[in-house]
Amino acid sequence: MGILDGKVAIVTGAGQGLGRVEALELARNGASVVVNDLGVDADGSGGSEEPSREVVHEIEAEGGKAVAAFGDVSNWHDAGRLVRTAVETFGDLNILMNNAGIQRDGMIVKMTEDQFDSVIQVHVKGHFAMIKHTMDFWRNKSKAEGGKPLYGRIISTASDSFMMGNLGQPNYAAAKAAIAHLTLSAARECQRFGATANVILPRARTRMTMSGPWAGIFAEPTDGSFDAFSPDHIGPLVAWIASPHSENVSGQLIQLWGKHIRVYAPPVASLDHENDEPFTVDNIQSVLGPFFEDKKPIEDGFALPMS
Ligand SMILES: NC(=O)c1ccc[n+]([C@@H]2O[C@H](COP(=O)([O-])OP(=O)(O)OC[C@H]3O[C@@H](n4cnc5c(N)ncnc54)[C@H](O)[C@@H]3O)[C@@H](O)[C@H]2O)c1
Repeated sequence: MGILDGKVAIVTGAGQGLGRVEALELARNGASVVVNDLGVDADGSGGSEEPSREVVHEIEAEGGKAVAAFGDVSNWHDAGRLVRTAVETFGDLNILMNNAGIQRDGMIVKMTEDQFDSVIQVHVKGHFAMIKHTMDFWRNKSKAEGGKPLYGRIISTASDSFMMGNLGQPNYAAAKAAIAHLTLSAARECQRFGATANVILPRARTRMTMSGPWAGIFAEPTDGSFDAFSPDHIGPLVAWIASPHSENVSGQLIQLWGKHIRVYAPPVASLDHENDEPFTVDNIQSVLGPFFEDKKPIEDGFALPMS
C-alpha cells in the first residue's frame, strides 16, 4: 500500500530535472501520474515529446501508472487539455505539481523584452493556467457532490531567487515572487473545496543550476561525501505535501536541499510606527532618517541574505 494509492497527479515539466524526480516519487507512492513536458531547452527553445515518454517508461518499468502529455503549460488550451487527460485517463485529479520552468538570465540593462516576457509567460501564466483549470475541475466536482470536501493538493515551485532578489535574474526573481503569491491566493480560494496550496523552494543540481554562476556549488562531490544537491532529495517533500499527512498544511513556503528543511515565516515589520500628525516629507525624515541611519544598502534590505 502506498500513501498515494488511488490518487491522480499531474506533474508539469516532468521530462527531466526536478519534475522527473517528483513524478517518479509520486508514482512510487501509488499515484497515477500525467507526465507533462514540452521537451524544451533550458531557455525555452525547441521542443520534443521524447522526455515525457521516457519518464513514463521509467515509471511503468517500476510498476507505476503514468501517461505522457506533451504540451505548453502557459497555453490556456494545453493547460485545460492536461487536466482533461488526467480525468479521462485516470478518472480524477487530486494533485497538481506545478514545476515547468525556463531560465533566461541577464542584467536589466541588457535584457530584451522577449527575454522578460517569455520567463514571466512560462512561470506565471503557466502556474496560473494549470491552477485555474484544476480549480475549475475541483469546483464542479465539489458542487456535483453537494459541496463535499475533496482531496486536492496544489504544489507550486518558487525559488531562492525571489527571496534573495538575485542579481542578473530580474525576470526569474519576479516570476518566482508572483508564483509564491499566486499560490497563497489560491490557498485561500481552494480551502472552500477542502484543498490545499503550498510552495516549494528547491535547491538541486539540474541543467538549470549547472549552467549559471552557481554551478560550482551544485556540482556532485568527487570525494564521496554526501551529495546535498542531488535532485533526488526533493521527491519525498513533494510526496509528503501530496499526501494525507499535510491535510492542515496550506499557504506555506517550504524549502529543502540535502538533509535541510526550512519553513518560512511571514515577513516581519522592522519598524511599525504610528505618527501623531499626517506625514510630511519632514516628519517622515524625522522617523525614517534615524531608523535607516545605521542600515547598510541592500544588505539590511528586504531580501534574504545568501545562506
Ligand atoms: N534546480 C534548482 O535548484 C531549482 C531551484 C529553484 C527553483 N527551481 C525550479 O524548479 C523547476 C524545475 O527546474 P529544473 O531545475 O528541474 O530545470 P530543468 O530545465 O531541468 O527542467 C524544466 C523542465 O520544464 C520543461 N518546460 C519548460 N517550459 C515548459 C512549458 N512551457 N510547458 C511544459 N514544460 C515545460 C522543460 O522541458 C524541462 O523538462 C523550475 O520551475 C525551476 O525554476 C529549480
